[in-house]
Amino acid sequence: MESSSSELPQWQALEEWRRSFASRTLANLFKLDPGRQQRWSFSAASIHIDVSRNWIDDNTFGALMTLARARDLEKMRDALLGGEAVNTTEHRPAWHTALRTPPADPSVARSLEEEQRLFLGFAEALRSGRIQGSTGVPISTVVCIGIGGSDLGPRLVTEALGAPTGPVRVRFVSNIDPVELLNALDGATPESTLIVAISKTFTTLETLENLRVARDWLNAAGQRLDAAHHVVAVTAHPDRAAKIGVHPKRIFVFPEWVGGRYSLWSACGVPIAIAHGHEAFLQLLAGAAEMDAHFASAPLETNLPVILGLLGVWYVNFWNIRARAVFPYSQRLRALPSYLQQLEMESLGKRVDVDGRPVTIDTGPVVWGEVGTTAQHSVFQFMHQGTHWSPADFVVIAQHAQSDERRYRLLHASAMAQADAMAWGDSVLGAERSSAAHAITPGGRPSNIISLNQLDARCIGALLAMYEQRTFVQSVIWNINAFDQWGVEVGKKLLQQRLERESF
Ligand code: F6P
Repeated sequence: MESSSSELPQWQALEEWRRSFASRTLANLFKLDPGRQQRWSFSAASIHIDVSRNWIDDNTFGALMTLARARDLEKMRDALLGGEAVNTTEHRPAWHTALRTPPADPSVARSLEEEQRLFLGFAEALRSGRIQGSTGVPISTVVCIGIGGSDLGPRLVTEALGAPTGPVRVRFVSNIDPVELLNALDGATPESTLIVAISKTFTTLETLENLRVARDWLNAAGQRLDAAHHVVAVTAHPDRAAKIGVHPKRIFVFPEWVGGRYSLWSACGVPIAIAHGHEAFLQLLAGAAEMDAHFASAPLETNLPVILGLLGVWYVNFWNIRARAVFPYSQRLRALPSYLQQLEMESLGKRVDVDGRPVTIDTGPVVWGEVGTTAQHSVFQFMHQGTHWSPADFVVIAQHAQSDERRYRLLHASAMAQADAMAWGDSVLGAERSSAAHAITPGGRPSNIISLNQLDARCIGALLAMYEQRTFVQSVIWNINAFDQWGVEVGKKLLQQRLERESF
Protein backbone atom coordinates (compact mmCIF):
# COMPACT_ATOMS: atom_id res chain seq x y z
CA MET A 1 0.00 0.00 0.00
CA GLU A 2 1.51 3.29 -1.08
CA SER A 3 1.51 6.49 0.91
CA SER A 4 -0.48 9.43 -0.41
CA SER A 5 1.46 12.05 -2.34
CA SER A 6 0.64 14.61 0.34
CA GLU A 7 2.68 12.59 2.87
CA LEU A 8 5.82 12.86 0.75
CA PRO A 9 8.48 15.42 1.66
CA GLN A 10 8.34 16.66 -1.95
CA TRP A 11 4.72 17.67 -1.37
CA GLN A 12 5.67 19.81 1.60
CA ALA A 13 8.47 21.37 -0.46
CA LEU A 14 5.96 22.30 -3.14
CA GLU A 15 3.69 23.92 -0.56
CA GLU A 16 6.66 26.06 0.48
CA TRP A 17 7.41 27.00 -3.12
CA ARG A 18 3.76 27.89 -3.64
CA ARG A 19 3.97 30.36 -0.75
CA SER A 20 7.03 31.95 -2.35
CA PHE A 21 4.87 33.17 -5.24
CA ALA A 22 2.60 35.24 -2.99
CA SER A 23 4.60 38.43 -3.51
CA ARG A 24 5.49 37.91 -7.17
CA THR A 25 3.86 38.63 -10.51
CA LEU A 26 4.06 36.74 -13.78
CA ALA A 27 5.43 39.88 -15.39
CA ASN A 28 8.17 39.93 -12.81
CA LEU A 29 9.13 36.34 -13.56
CA PHE A 30 9.66 37.34 -17.18
CA LYS A 31 11.58 40.47 -16.24
CA LEU A 32 14.01 38.52 -14.10
CA ASP A 33 14.57 35.95 -16.82
CA PRO A 34 14.53 37.39 -20.36
CA GLY A 35 15.07 33.91 -21.85
CA ARG A 36 12.08 32.54 -19.98
CA GLN A 37 9.81 31.93 -22.95
CA GLN A 38 12.50 30.05 -24.81
CA ARG A 39 13.53 28.05 -21.76
CA TRP A 40 9.98 26.99 -20.96
CA SER A 41 9.13 25.89 -24.46
CA PHE A 42 9.36 22.26 -25.58
CA SER A 43 8.67 20.31 -28.77
CA ALA A 44 7.96 16.74 -29.79
CA ALA A 45 6.09 15.02 -32.62
CA SER A 46 5.25 18.31 -34.39
CA ILE A 47 3.68 19.73 -31.23
CA HIS A 48 5.22 22.73 -29.54
CA ILE A 49 4.25 23.80 -26.03
CA ASP A 50 5.05 27.14 -24.43
CA VAL A 51 4.44 26.90 -20.69
CA SER A 52 6.30 30.07 -19.78
CA ARG A 53 3.10 31.89 -18.75
CA ASN A 54 2.70 29.58 -15.74
CA TRP A 55 3.42 30.23 -12.10
CA ILE A 56 6.63 28.22 -12.18
CA ASP A 57 10.31 28.79 -11.69
CA ASP A 58 13.29 26.44 -11.61
CA ASN A 59 12.62 25.51 -8.00
CA THR A 60 8.97 24.56 -8.55
CA PHE A 61 9.70 22.79 -11.80
CA GLY A 62 12.46 20.80 -10.12
CA ALA A 63 10.25 19.97 -7.14
CA LEU A 64 7.43 18.79 -9.43
CA MET A 65 9.88 16.50 -11.24
CA THR A 66 11.14 15.15 -7.91
CA LEU A 67 7.56 14.47 -6.87
CA ALA A 68 6.98 12.57 -10.13
CA ARG A 69 10.05 10.44 -9.50
CA ALA A 70 9.01 9.80 -5.90
CA ARG A 71 5.72 8.50 -7.28
CA ASP A 72 7.60 6.18 -9.64
CA LEU A 73 6.17 7.84 -12.71
CA GLU A 74 8.73 6.25 -15.03
CA LYS A 75 7.97 2.76 -13.73
CA MET A 76 4.22 3.36 -14.00
CA ARG A 77 4.62 4.72 -17.53
CA ASP A 78 6.54 1.59 -18.53
CA ALA A 79 3.80 -0.57 -17.01
CA LEU A 80 1.16 1.32 -19.01
CA LEU A 81 3.07 1.09 -22.28
CA GLY A 82 4.10 -2.51 -21.63
CA GLY A 83 0.49 -3.67 -21.38
CA GLU A 84 0.48 -4.47 -17.66
CA ALA A 85 -2.85 -4.57 -15.83
CA VAL A 86 -2.84 -0.88 -14.83
CA ASN A 87 -6.64 -0.83 -14.75
CA THR A 88 -6.67 -2.38 -11.31
CA THR A 89 -10.41 -2.48 -10.61
CA GLU A 90 -11.10 -4.25 -13.90
CA HIS A 91 -7.88 -6.29 -13.80
CA ARG A 92 -6.74 -5.52 -17.30
CA PRO A 93 -4.28 -3.39 -19.26
CA ALA A 94 -5.20 -0.03 -20.74
CA TRP A 95 -3.20 -0.77 -23.81
CA HIS A 96 -4.54 1.64 -26.41
CA THR A 97 -0.93 2.48 -27.27
CA ALA A 98 -0.59 -1.04 -28.76
CA LEU A 99 -3.06 0.08 -31.44
CA ARG A 100 -0.54 2.65 -32.68
CA THR A 101 2.79 0.91 -31.96
CA PRO A 102 2.61 -2.84 -32.61
CA PRO A 103 3.45 -4.69 -29.39
CA ALA A 104 6.38 -7.11 -29.12
CA ASP A 105 4.09 -10.12 -28.62
CA PRO A 106 3.66 -11.40 -32.22
CA SER A 107 0.27 -13.00 -31.58
CA VAL A 108 -1.22 -9.76 -30.16
CA ALA A 109 0.39 -7.74 -32.95
CA ARG A 110 -0.99 -10.11 -35.59
CA SER A 111 -4.53 -10.04 -34.27
CA LEU A 112 -4.53 -6.21 -34.02
CA GLU A 113 -3.18 -5.99 -37.53
CA GLU A 114 -5.87 -8.33 -38.82
CA GLU A 115 -8.67 -6.35 -37.12
CA GLN A 116 -7.26 -3.15 -38.56
CA ARG A 117 -6.93 -4.64 -42.04
CA LEU A 118 -10.61 -5.62 -41.97
CA PHE A 119 -12.07 -2.28 -40.98
CA LEU A 120 -9.71 -0.20 -43.11
CA GLY A 121 -10.43 -2.48 -46.06
CA PHE A 122 -14.15 -2.03 -45.50
CA ALA A 123 -13.76 1.76 -45.37
CA GLU A 124 -11.85 1.79 -48.65
CA ALA A 125 -14.39 -0.50 -50.29
CA LEU A 126 -17.15 1.92 -49.32
CA ARG A 127 -15.20 4.89 -50.59
CA SER A 128 -14.44 3.24 -53.91
CA GLY A 129 -17.99 1.99 -54.37
CA ARG A 130 -16.89 -1.67 -54.30
CA ILE A 131 -19.32 -2.08 -51.42
CA GLN A 132 -22.68 -0.58 -52.24
CA GLY A 133 -26.15 -0.57 -50.75
CA SER A 134 -28.21 -3.74 -51.15
CA THR A 135 -30.08 -2.30 -54.15
CA GLY A 136 -26.86 -1.42 -55.96
CA VAL A 137 -26.92 2.28 -55.03
CA PRO A 138 -23.54 3.60 -53.73
CA ILE A 139 -23.44 4.48 -50.05
CA SER A 140 -23.25 8.26 -49.72
CA THR A 141 -24.26 8.73 -46.05
CA VAL A 142 -22.89 6.95 -43.01
CA VAL A 143 -24.70 7.56 -39.74
CA CYS A 144 -22.54 6.62 -36.75
CA ILE A 145 -24.43 5.82 -33.57
CA GLY A 146 -22.43 5.73 -30.33
CA ILE A 147 -21.96 7.70 -27.14
CA GLY A 148 -19.10 8.79 -24.86
CA GLY A 149 -15.83 7.33 -26.08
CA SER A 150 -17.66 5.56 -28.89
CA ASP A 151 -18.62 8.95 -30.29
CA LEU A 152 -16.45 11.82 -29.10
CA GLY A 153 -13.05 10.71 -30.41
CA PRO A 154 -14.21 9.53 -33.86
CA ARG A 155 -16.43 12.64 -34.17
CA LEU A 156 -13.61 15.00 -33.16
CA VAL A 157 -11.07 13.55 -35.60
CA THR A 158 -13.55 13.22 -38.48
CA GLU A 159 -14.44 16.90 -38.09
CA ALA A 160 -10.86 18.01 -37.44
CA LEU A 161 -9.68 16.61 -40.77
CA GLY A 162 -12.12 18.84 -42.61
CA ALA A 163 -14.21 18.05 -45.67
CA PRO A 164 -14.40 14.33 -46.52
CA THR A 165 -11.92 13.33 -49.20
CA GLY A 166 -14.24 10.66 -50.62
CA PRO A 167 -17.85 10.41 -51.74
CA VAL A 168 -19.26 9.48 -48.32
CA ARG A 169 -20.45 12.02 -45.76
CA VAL A 170 -20.39 10.91 -42.15
CA ARG A 171 -22.85 12.02 -39.49
CA PHE A 172 -22.82 11.29 -35.76
CA VAL A 173 -25.61 10.56 -33.31
CA SER A 174 -25.15 10.11 -29.57
CA ASN A 175 -28.15 11.57 -27.76
CA ILE A 176 -31.30 9.61 -27.06
CA ASP A 177 -33.23 12.80 -27.76
CA PRO A 178 -34.96 11.79 -31.04
CA VAL A 179 -33.95 15.05 -32.67
CA GLU A 180 -30.33 14.07 -33.19
CA LEU A 181 -31.08 10.91 -35.17
CA LEU A 182 -33.83 12.71 -37.07
CA ASN A 183 -31.35 15.39 -38.08
CA ALA A 184 -28.75 12.82 -39.08
CA LEU A 185 -31.22 10.97 -41.31
CA ASP A 186 -32.62 14.16 -42.78
CA GLY A 187 -32.22 14.10 -46.54
CA ALA A 188 -30.76 10.57 -46.51
CA THR A 189 -32.35 7.62 -48.30
CA PRO A 190 -32.21 4.06 -46.88
CA GLU A 191 -30.78 2.78 -50.18
CA SER A 192 -27.68 4.97 -49.89
CA THR A 193 -27.25 4.97 -46.10
CA LEU A 194 -25.13 2.80 -43.85
CA ILE A 195 -25.69 2.74 -40.09
CA VAL A 196 -22.54 2.16 -38.02
CA ALA A 197 -23.28 1.30 -34.38
CA ILE A 198 -20.20 1.78 -32.20
CA SER A 199 -20.34 0.41 -28.67
CA LYS A 200 -17.65 -1.38 -26.73
CA THR A 201 -20.13 -3.21 -24.51
CA PHE A 202 -23.08 -3.27 -26.91
CA THR A 203 -25.31 -2.79 -23.89
CA THR A 204 -25.49 1.01 -23.85
CA LEU A 205 -29.10 2.12 -23.74
CA GLU A 206 -28.80 5.22 -25.91
CA THR A 207 -26.89 3.42 -28.65
CA LEU A 208 -29.15 0.38 -28.74
CA GLU A 209 -32.30 2.52 -28.79
CA ASN A 210 -31.02 4.74 -31.57
CA LEU A 211 -29.89 1.67 -33.49
CA ARG A 212 -33.37 0.17 -33.09
CA VAL A 213 -35.00 3.27 -34.54
CA ALA A 214 -32.44 3.51 -37.34
CA ARG A 215 -33.11 -0.11 -38.31
CA ASP A 216 -36.85 0.57 -38.29
CA TRP A 217 -36.15 3.42 -40.68
CA LEU A 218 -34.22 1.06 -42.96
CA ASN A 219 -36.94 -1.61 -42.71
CA ALA A 220 -39.59 0.92 -43.61
CA ALA A 221 -38.07 0.96 -47.10
CA GLY A 222 -39.76 -2.42 -47.61
CA GLN A 223 -38.58 -5.69 -49.07
CA ARG A 224 -36.60 -4.13 -51.90
CA LEU A 225 -33.94 -3.31 -49.28
CA ASP A 226 -31.90 -5.85 -47.33
CA ALA A 227 -31.70 -3.80 -44.11
CA ALA A 228 -29.05 -6.09 -42.55
CA HIS A 229 -26.71 -5.14 -45.40
CA HIS A 230 -26.95 -1.51 -44.25
CA VAL A 231 -25.87 -2.05 -40.63
CA VAL A 232 -22.34 -2.35 -39.28
CA ALA A 233 -21.31 -2.84 -35.65
CA VAL A 234 -18.03 -2.03 -33.91
CA THR A 235 -17.66 -3.65 -30.52
CA ALA A 236 -15.57 -5.68 -28.09
CA HIS A 237 -18.56 -8.06 -27.76
CA PRO A 238 -19.38 -9.34 -31.26
CA ASP A 239 -21.69 -12.01 -29.83
CA ARG A 240 -24.05 -9.30 -28.53
CA ALA A 241 -24.15 -7.51 -31.89
CA ALA A 242 -24.76 -10.81 -33.69
CA LYS A 243 -27.55 -11.65 -31.25
CA ILE A 244 -29.55 -8.64 -32.34
CA GLY A 245 -29.10 -9.56 -35.98
CA VAL A 246 -25.98 -7.75 -37.17
CA HIS A 247 -24.35 -9.89 -39.85
CA PRO A 248 -21.06 -11.40 -38.50
CA LYS A 249 -19.20 -10.12 -41.60
CA ARG A 250 -20.36 -6.61 -40.70
CA ILE A 251 -18.98 -6.67 -37.15
CA PHE A 252 -15.56 -5.14 -36.48
CA VAL A 253 -13.98 -5.93 -33.16
CA PHE A 254 -11.44 -4.51 -30.78
CA PRO A 255 -9.99 -5.91 -27.56
CA GLU A 256 -11.60 -5.55 -24.16
CA TRP A 257 -8.42 -3.90 -22.88
CA VAL A 258 -9.06 -0.79 -25.00
CA GLY A 259 -10.96 1.67 -22.82
CA GLY A 260 -13.97 3.43 -24.36
CA ARG A 261 -12.48 6.92 -24.14
CA TYR A 262 -9.21 5.60 -25.61
CA SER A 263 -10.82 3.68 -28.45
CA LEU A 264 -10.70 6.00 -31.46
CA TRP A 265 -7.46 4.28 -32.51
CA SER A 266 -9.26 0.96 -32.93
CA ALA A 267 -12.10 -0.10 -35.24
CA CYS A 268 -14.11 2.64 -33.46
CA GLY A 269 -12.18 4.99 -35.75
CA VAL A 270 -13.80 3.49 -38.85
CA PRO A 271 -15.78 6.72 -39.51
CA ILE A 272 -12.46 8.57 -39.77
CA ALA A 273 -11.22 6.12 -42.40
CA ILE A 274 -14.55 6.26 -44.26
CA ALA A 275 -14.52 10.05 -44.44
CA HIS A 276 -10.80 10.63 -44.96
CA GLY A 277 -9.28 7.37 -46.19
CA HIS A 278 -7.13 4.70 -44.63
CA GLU A 279 -3.92 6.64 -45.23
CA ALA A 280 -5.17 9.50 -43.04
CA PHE A 281 -6.09 6.97 -40.35
CA LEU A 282 -2.60 5.46 -40.47
CA GLN A 283 -1.08 8.93 -40.25
CA LEU A 284 -3.21 9.60 -37.18
CA LEU A 285 -1.79 6.45 -35.56
CA ALA A 286 1.74 7.41 -36.63
CA GLY A 287 1.46 10.82 -34.96
CA ALA A 288 0.17 9.22 -31.76
CA ALA A 289 2.95 6.62 -31.88
CA GLU A 290 5.50 9.40 -32.20
CA MET A 291 4.13 11.08 -29.09
CA ASP A 292 4.07 7.73 -27.25
CA ALA A 293 7.74 7.19 -28.14
CA HIS A 294 8.53 10.66 -26.79
CA PHE A 295 6.55 9.96 -23.61
CA ALA A 296 8.39 6.65 -23.21
CA SER A 297 11.90 7.93 -23.62
CA ALA A 298 12.30 11.70 -23.16
CA PRO A 299 13.64 12.84 -19.77
CA LEU A 300 10.81 13.97 -17.52
CA GLU A 301 12.11 17.56 -17.68
CA THR A 302 11.48 17.83 -21.44
CA ASN A 303 8.58 15.39 -21.69
CA LEU A 304 5.46 17.18 -22.94
CA PRO A 305 2.76 15.03 -21.27
CA VAL A 306 4.77 14.98 -18.04
CA ILE A 307 5.23 18.75 -17.93
CA LEU A 308 1.56 19.44 -18.70
CA GLY A 309 0.36 16.80 -16.24
CA LEU A 310 2.50 18.13 -13.42
CA LEU A 311 1.30 21.67 -14.09
CA GLY A 312 -2.23 20.30 -13.78
CA VAL A 313 -1.38 18.87 -10.36
CA TRP A 314 0.35 22.10 -9.35
CA TYR A 315 -2.79 24.20 -9.82
CA VAL A 316 -5.30 21.72 -8.39
CA ASN A 317 -3.39 20.81 -5.25
CA PHE A 318 -1.22 23.82 -4.49
CA TRP A 319 -3.30 26.71 -5.83
CA ASN A 320 -6.72 25.19 -5.08
CA ILE A 321 -7.83 25.78 -8.65
CA ARG A 322 -10.40 23.19 -9.61
CA ALA A 323 -10.98 23.99 -13.26
CA ARG A 324 -8.99 24.01 -16.47
CA ALA A 325 -10.14 25.50 -19.74
CA VAL A 326 -9.22 24.52 -23.28
CA PHE A 327 -9.66 26.92 -26.16
CA PRO A 328 -8.93 25.46 -29.59
CA TYR A 329 -8.38 28.30 -32.03
CA SER A 330 -9.58 26.21 -34.92
CA GLN A 331 -13.17 25.69 -35.95
CA ARG A 332 -12.30 22.17 -37.03
CA LEU A 333 -11.21 21.39 -33.46
CA ARG A 334 -14.43 22.69 -31.95
CA ALA A 335 -15.22 19.27 -30.47
CA LEU A 336 -11.92 19.17 -28.55
CA PRO A 337 -13.35 20.54 -25.26
CA SER A 338 -16.09 17.86 -25.16
CA TYR A 339 -13.60 15.13 -26.02
CA LEU A 340 -11.22 16.31 -23.28
CA GLN A 341 -14.06 16.58 -20.80
CA GLN A 342 -14.68 12.88 -21.13
CA LEU A 343 -11.01 11.93 -21.32
CA GLU A 344 -10.06 13.85 -18.21
CA MET A 345 -13.21 13.99 -16.10
CA GLU A 346 -14.08 10.31 -16.55
CA SER A 347 -10.43 9.34 -15.97
CA LEU A 348 -9.59 11.66 -13.10
CA GLY A 349 -12.92 12.28 -11.35
CA LYS A 350 -12.07 9.75 -8.63
CA ARG A 351 -12.52 9.78 -4.87
CA VAL A 352 -10.57 6.68 -3.86
CA ASP A 353 -7.00 5.72 -4.62
CA VAL A 354 -5.83 2.52 -6.31
CA ASP A 355 -6.00 0.72 -2.96
CA GLY A 356 -9.61 1.78 -2.44
CA ARG A 357 -8.84 4.32 0.29
CA PRO A 358 -10.51 7.75 0.15
CA VAL A 359 -8.04 10.21 -1.32
CA THR A 360 -6.82 12.95 0.99
CA ILE A 361 -6.07 15.43 -1.78
CA ASP A 362 -8.16 16.82 -4.61
CA THR A 363 -8.11 14.95 -7.91
CA GLY A 364 -9.29 15.89 -11.43
CA PRO A 365 -10.54 19.40 -12.10
CA VAL A 366 -13.55 20.49 -14.12
CA VAL A 367 -12.46 20.64 -17.74
CA TRP A 368 -14.34 23.06 -19.91
CA GLY A 369 -13.87 25.24 -22.95
CA GLU A 370 -15.11 26.57 -26.23
CA VAL A 371 -13.74 27.23 -29.67
CA GLY A 372 -11.86 30.49 -30.21
CA THR A 373 -12.52 33.20 -31.23
CA THR A 374 -16.18 32.48 -30.40
CA ALA A 375 -15.19 31.97 -26.75
CA GLN A 376 -13.81 35.50 -26.51
CA HIS A 377 -17.30 36.89 -26.76
CA SER A 378 -18.86 34.54 -24.25
CA VAL A 379 -16.58 33.26 -21.50
CA PHE A 380 -13.52 35.48 -21.51
CA GLN A 381 -15.08 38.06 -19.21
CA PHE A 382 -14.83 35.38 -16.51
CA MET A 383 -11.29 34.48 -17.57
CA HIS A 384 -10.06 38.04 -17.12
CA GLN A 385 -12.13 39.48 -14.27
CA GLY A 386 -13.85 36.59 -12.48
CA THR A 387 -13.12 36.28 -8.75
CA HIS A 388 -11.72 32.82 -9.29
CA TRP A 389 -9.85 31.59 -12.29
CA SER A 390 -9.10 28.69 -14.54
CA PRO A 391 -5.76 28.04 -16.23
CA ALA A 392 -6.19 27.59 -19.96
CA ASP A 393 -4.73 25.66 -22.87
CA PHE A 394 -4.72 27.72 -26.06
CA VAL A 395 -4.49 25.23 -28.92
CA VAL A 396 -3.29 26.94 -32.08
CA ILE A 397 -2.23 25.89 -35.56
CA ALA A 398 1.13 27.21 -36.78
CA GLN A 399 0.55 26.74 -40.52
CA HIS A 400 -2.80 26.61 -42.22
CA ALA A 401 -2.99 24.78 -45.51
CA GLN A 402 -6.04 26.69 -46.67
CA SER A 403 -6.12 30.06 -48.32
CA ASP A 404 -7.42 33.19 -46.60
CA GLU A 405 -4.19 33.83 -44.80
CA ARG A 406 -5.51 37.12 -43.42
CA ARG A 407 -8.23 35.52 -41.27
CA TYR A 408 -5.93 32.73 -40.11
CA ARG A 409 -3.44 35.34 -38.96
CA LEU A 410 -6.22 37.14 -37.13
CA LEU A 411 -7.23 33.84 -35.51
CA HIS A 412 -3.70 33.15 -34.28
CA ALA A 413 -3.12 36.71 -33.09
CA SER A 414 -6.43 36.57 -31.19
CA ALA A 415 -5.31 33.53 -29.21
CA MET A 416 -2.03 35.17 -28.31
CA ALA A 417 -3.78 38.43 -27.31
CA GLN A 418 -6.05 36.50 -24.94
CA ALA A 419 -3.11 34.63 -23.41
CA ASP A 420 -1.35 37.98 -22.95
CA ALA A 421 -4.43 39.53 -21.34
CA MET A 422 -4.65 36.57 -18.97
CA ALA A 423 -0.98 36.83 -18.02
CA TRP A 424 -0.37 40.57 -17.89
CA GLY A 425 -3.86 42.01 -17.56
CA ASP A 426 -4.30 45.64 -18.52
CA SER A 427 -0.84 46.59 -17.25
CA VAL A 428 0.58 46.40 -20.76
CA LEU A 429 -2.13 48.50 -22.44
CA GLY A 430 -0.10 51.70 -22.27
CA ALA A 431 -2.05 54.87 -23.01
CA GLU A 432 -5.27 52.95 -23.47
CA ARG A 433 -5.29 51.74 -19.91
CA SER A 434 -8.23 52.91 -17.81
CA SER A 435 -8.08 53.50 -14.08
CA ALA A 436 -11.82 52.84 -13.59
CA ALA A 437 -12.35 50.02 -11.11
CA HIS A 438 -14.59 48.07 -13.48
CA ALA A 439 -11.96 48.17 -16.23
CA ILE A 440 -9.08 46.81 -14.20
CA THR A 441 -7.94 43.39 -15.39
CA PRO A 442 -5.45 41.99 -12.91
CA GLY A 443 -3.62 39.41 -15.04
CA GLY A 444 -1.56 36.75 -13.33
CA ARG A 445 -3.71 34.01 -14.86
CA PRO A 446 -1.67 31.16 -16.32
CA SER A 447 -2.02 29.49 -19.70
CA ASN A 448 -0.24 27.07 -22.01
CA ILE A 449 0.20 27.71 -25.71
CA ILE A 450 -0.07 24.38 -27.49
CA SER A 451 0.85 24.70 -31.12
CA LEU A 452 0.36 22.08 -33.86
CA ASN A 453 2.62 22.46 -36.87
CA GLN A 454 -0.44 21.95 -39.02
CA LEU A 455 -3.93 20.56 -38.72
CA ASP A 456 -3.26 17.20 -40.33
CA ALA A 457 -3.87 13.64 -39.21
CA ARG A 458 -0.36 13.18 -37.87
CA CYS A 459 -0.41 16.28 -35.66
CA ILE A 460 -3.94 15.51 -34.44
CA GLY A 461 -2.79 12.01 -33.46
CA ALA A 462 0.14 13.45 -31.55
CA LEU A 463 -2.04 16.06 -29.84
CA LEU A 464 -4.60 13.53 -28.60
CA ALA A 465 -1.92 11.07 -27.45
CA MET A 466 -0.27 13.93 -25.56
CA TYR A 467 -3.54 14.66 -23.76
CA GLU A 468 -4.07 10.95 -23.01
CA GLN A 469 -0.61 10.62 -21.50
CA ARG A 470 -0.98 13.92 -19.63
CA THR A 471 -4.11 12.48 -18.03
CA PHE A 472 -2.22 9.35 -17.03
CA VAL A 473 0.60 11.39 -15.46
CA GLN A 474 -1.88 13.14 -13.16
CA SER A 475 -3.46 9.83 -12.17
CA VAL A 476 -0.05 8.54 -11.11
CA ILE A 477 0.60 11.53 -8.88
CA TRP A 478 -2.86 11.19 -7.37
CA ASN A 479 -2.48 7.39 -7.12
CA ILE A 480 -5.88 6.83 -8.75
CA ASN A 481 -7.05 4.50 -11.52
CA ALA A 482 -7.49 6.54 -14.70
CA PHE A 483 -9.10 3.67 -16.57
CA ASP A 484 -12.36 2.84 -14.83
CA GLN A 485 -15.62 4.83 -14.51
CA TRP A 486 -17.70 3.20 -11.80
CA GLY A 487 -19.40 6.48 -10.99
CA VAL A 488 -21.39 6.23 -14.21
CA GLU A 489 -22.94 2.93 -13.19
CA VAL A 490 -25.23 4.18 -10.41
CA GLY A 491 -27.17 6.41 -12.77
CA LYS A 492 -27.50 3.57 -15.29
CA LYS A 493 -28.87 1.19 -12.63
CA LEU A 494 -31.27 3.79 -11.24
CA LEU A 495 -32.61 4.36 -14.74
CA GLN A 496 -33.20 0.61 -15.16
CA GLN A 497 -35.00 0.42 -11.82
CA ARG A 498 -37.13 3.42 -12.71
CA LEU A 499 -38.02 1.90 -16.08
CA GLU A 500 -38.98 -1.38 -14.40
CA ARG A 501 -41.20 0.47 -11.90
CA GLU A 502 -42.88 2.25 -14.77
CA SER A 503 -43.22 -1.12 -16.61
CA PHE A 504 -41.49 0.53 -19.56
O1 F6P B 1 -21.13 5.18 -19.34
C1 F6P B 1 -19.83 5.59 -19.59
C2 F6P B 1 -19.29 4.84 -20.73
O2 F6P B 1 -19.05 3.53 -20.34
C3 F6P B 1 -18.04 5.44 -21.33
O3 F6P B 1 -16.90 5.14 -20.61
C4 F6P B 1 -18.08 4.89 -22.70
O4 F6P B 1 -17.21 5.56 -23.55
C5 F6P B 1 -19.54 5.09 -23.03
O5 F6P B 1 -20.21 4.82 -21.82
C6 F6P B 1 -20.08 4.22 -24.13
O6 F6P B 1 -19.96 2.87 -23.83
P1 F6P B 1 -20.08 1.78 -24.96
O7 F6P B 1 -18.99 2.01 -25.92
O8 F6P B 1 -19.96 0.47 -24.26
O9 F6P B 1 -21.42 1.95 -25.61
